[in-house]
Amino acid sequence: MTTEQHTVPRQEAVDASTLAQIRDVDIDDVLDYVHADLKKLPGYLDLYRRYLRQRWDVYELDFGQDVLDWHTRMTQEERDAFVAISSGFHHGERQVEVELPVFMLAGSEESKIYMSSQIEDEARHTVFFDRFYREVVGLAGESVQDVLDASFPHISETFVGPFGLLAYQADELRRDPEDPAARVRYGTTYFLWIEGVLALSVMKITLTYCRERGLLPAYYAGFTATCRDEARHVQGGMRFLRDAVRADPPLLREIHETLRTILAMNGAVSRRLALEALGWTPEEVRRLMIRQLSMKLSDVGIDLPPDLQEKIQQIEPEVAGG
Ligand SMILES: [Fe+2]
Ligand SMILES: [Fe+2]
Repeated sequence: MTTEQHTVPRQEAVDASTLAQIRDVDIDDVLDYVHADLKKLPGYLDLYRRYLRQRWDVYELDFGQDVLDWHTRMTQEERDAFVAISSGFHHGERQVEVELPVFMLAGSEESKIYMSSQIEDEARHTVFFDRFYREVVGLAGESVQDVLDASFPHISETFVGPFGLLAYQADELRRDPEDPAARVRYGTTYFLWIEGVLALSVMKITLTYCRERGLLPAYYAGFTATCRDEARHVQGGMRFLRDAVRADPPLLREIHETLRTILAMNGAVSRRLALEALGWTPEEVRRLMIRQLSMKLSDVGIDLPPDLQEKIQQIEPEVAGG
C-alpha cells in the first residue's frame, strides 16, 4: 500500500467521526485533513453541507475524568502552561464569534449561508471553553462574561496583538462591508494567520500533549472536533482570499501588507509562553508555525516577495486562536 492509500481511510475517519469516535482520532490526521482539500478548495455550499454533518453537541461532553486528571495527574507547571494557552482560545473564540457578522454582510449568497455556520461554530467553541474553565479549571462565575473576565489575567500579549488588529479591521469593515481591500485585509488576519497558523499550532501542541499523556479526554474530544471545524473555516477563508485575488490581482498587495504588519507585531514578544512544560521547545513551535503558514500559501498559489519570506523564517513562537 502506498502512503496515499493509507491516509485516505484516515481522512475519511476524520470526516465522518461522531463526537464519541473523535476521541480516537489523531490530531496529525486532522491537520492533514485541513490541507487535503486546499488545492481544489471546496465551494461554500459544500462546506455548509459538511458543517451540517459534522456539527457536534458541546453539552454531550462529560468533563468528569478531566477534573480528576487536572487535579491529580498534572503538575502545577503543566496546569499553568495549559491555562496560559487556553485563555487565548477562550477569548479568541468569543472575539471571532462577535466579529464575523460584519464579514457576512457582503459576498455571495452562498458565502453568507456558509458564514452563518462558521458563526455558530465559533459560538459553540466559546461555550466549549466556558465549560472547560468553569468545570475543569474551576473559575467561578454566573455568566459566560464572568468566566471570560476571570480568565483575562492569563491572556498574553501574543493574543492582544493579532486580535487587536482584527478588531481594528472589523471596525474598518463595519464602515463599508463591501470594500474588497478591507475584506482581504480582514481575511488575511483572521482566516490565514489567526485560524490557519495560530489556532492550528495551539491545537497541535495541546492535543499532542493530551494524547501522549492520556490526559483530559473530554477536552481532547471537544478540541479535536473544534479543529475539524477549523478545517472548514480555513478552507472557506483560503477560498475567499484566492477568489478575491483572481478577481482583482492587485489585491495580492493587501495580503502582503497585512502579513508585514502581523510579522512586525509578532517580533514584539516580551513574555515567552512556558511551552516546555507541555513538551515543546520554542524552536519546534517556530517550525510548526512556519510550516502551517507556508503550506496554506503554496496550496492556494499565493506567492510572497523575498522580504516576507525572510521575515517568516524569523517568526517568534506565539499562540492564541479562534
Ligand atoms: Fe474558526
Ligand atoms: Fe473557533
